[in-house]
Amino acid sequence: MWASAVLLVLLGSFGANALDNGLARTPPMGWLAWERFRCNVNCTADPKNCVSEKLFMEMADRLVEDGYKDAGYEYVNIDDCWMAKQRDANNKLYADPERFPSGIKGLADYIHSKGLKLGIYTAYGNFTCQGYPASGMHLELDAQTFAEWGVDMLKMDGCKQMDRHTMKKGYPQMTKYLNATGRPILFSCSWPDYERGAGIPINYTLVAENCNIWRNYVDIQDSWQSVLSIIDYYAKEQDTLVPVAGPGNFNDPDMLIIGDFSLSVEQAKAQMAMWAILAAPLLMSNDLRTITPEYRDILLNKDVIAISQDNAGIMGKRVLQVDGVDVWTRDCGGYFDQEWAMTFLNRNSANKTITFALNDIGLFFFGGYGITDLWNHNADLGYRDIYAKYKYTVPKTGVLMWYFVPWWNTTSF
Ligand SMILES: *[C@@H]1O[C@H](CO)[C@@H](O)[C@H](O)[C@H]1NC(C)=O
Ligand SMILES: *[C@@H]1O[C@H](CO)[C@@H](O)[C@H](O)[C@H]1NC(C)=O
Ligand SMILES: *[C@@H]1O[C@H](CO)[C@@H](O)[C@H](O)[C@H]1NC(C)=O
Ligand SMILES: *[C@@H]1O[C@H](CO)[C@@H](O)[C@H](O)[C@H]1NC(C)=O
Repeated sequence: MWASAVLLVLLGSFGANALDNGLARTPPMGWLAWERFRCNVNCTADPKNCVSEKLFMEMADRLVEDGYKDAGYEYVNIDDCWMAKQRDANNKLYADPERFPSGIKGLADYIHSKGLKLGIYTAYGNFTCQGYPASGMHLELDAQTFAEWGVDMLKMDGCKQMDRHTMKKGYPQMTKYLNATGRPILFSCSWPDYERGAGIPINYTLVAENCNIWRNYVDIQDSWQSVLSIIDYYAKEQDTLVPVAGPGNFNDPDMLIIGDFSLSVEQAKAQMAMWAILAAPLLMSNDLRTITPEYRDILLNKDVIAISQDNAGIMGKRVLQVDGVDVWTRDCGGYFDQEWAMTFLNRNSANKTITFALNDIGLFFFGGYGITDLWNHNADLGYRDIYAKYKYTVPKTGVLMWYFVPWWNTTSF
């Protein structure tokens, strides 16, 4: 899965102006509170699930003890509703003292002691989406505060900012203030999604100069329909979005909802496979304390994670749609730039068999390909030439995920 020298040179030249903080060279991996825990702030009523330092410490413990950290998940990310309802006497943000008695600094120390990293949340505009104090008028002070606390990642939201035309100025200001702190802080921007929502043209060159990852589309909800609608947005926009992704810069289709209430095991595999193909951040939003083993195994599948983390950082594309099955490929570099991860996504509520030739979808290596099954410990599935039409049977509302390498690479001749 190494990129060819030619490929690296091409990527290097494209990325000349990308944000240079050394972070997100591959899509970041970790855990983010929002989809599962929302703005649950009543710790009297719901001490186990309210947004509090205890929740983040418990998730950090699970990341370390249950194998997620070893698999690459490293960020523990706070979302909205962590702040006190007003700033302090020096205008600094501070955490709600009842729910975060150690303060964010104390929580960061705990997270770091586990070998993990801490992410935090703010918004552009005067208030967060849930009405807590946000950074609009205090970008510089807040960047300094986050750095002092030892924060490693910042998500900056923007729903209370009525004039979204100002975001193309405000987000880059925050980038400068974060840089000036001297602490490398991975910057996650919601800016393109808000411009999209307001019908403002998005300048992805500018976005990539200022953000490591960015949201393009609506928030994920806990449903298969939501997963499909997000995938469809990335397919529709792929000609714009694929060129802007690469080491240091990734499109963010939002959190993994694997292990929550709605996805079946096959649907969960489909989300994991598609997020890997999309070179998406892998930020789980689930309850790692209660997740069942079949969902945990999906999140920990090292062969699928290896596709996500392929170091060329090339985002995949939808290359074929037949009978409700979408075929996606991700270029993983390799020999003649002909190593590919491929996902077959079946939207039908019945298993489906489709037929096509590899040559029809841009796999042109004349010797044909050797194939392995990424969901099955890379089991060898044999040989395919490029002109013959083969049959592929895909489970209902689920995926196949295979890896293709030039055939001579897999044999001894
Ligand atoms: C700040 O930006 C400069 C120039 O792009 C870069 O070399 C440096 O690593 C950045 N520092 C941090 C802390 O992000
Ligand atoms: C929190 O929940 C408790 C128990 O349900 C309730 O009595 C209390 O009023 C709630 N507090 C707030 C601030 O909503
Ligand atoms: C934020 O508050 C300042 C000071 O009160 C005000 O001038 C500004 O218009 C507000 N911005 C937004 C987006 O509401
Ligand atoms: C987009 O941003 C880039 C980088 O800042 C800039 O050079 C370019 O002119 C912008 N394009 C448009 C259409 O504004």
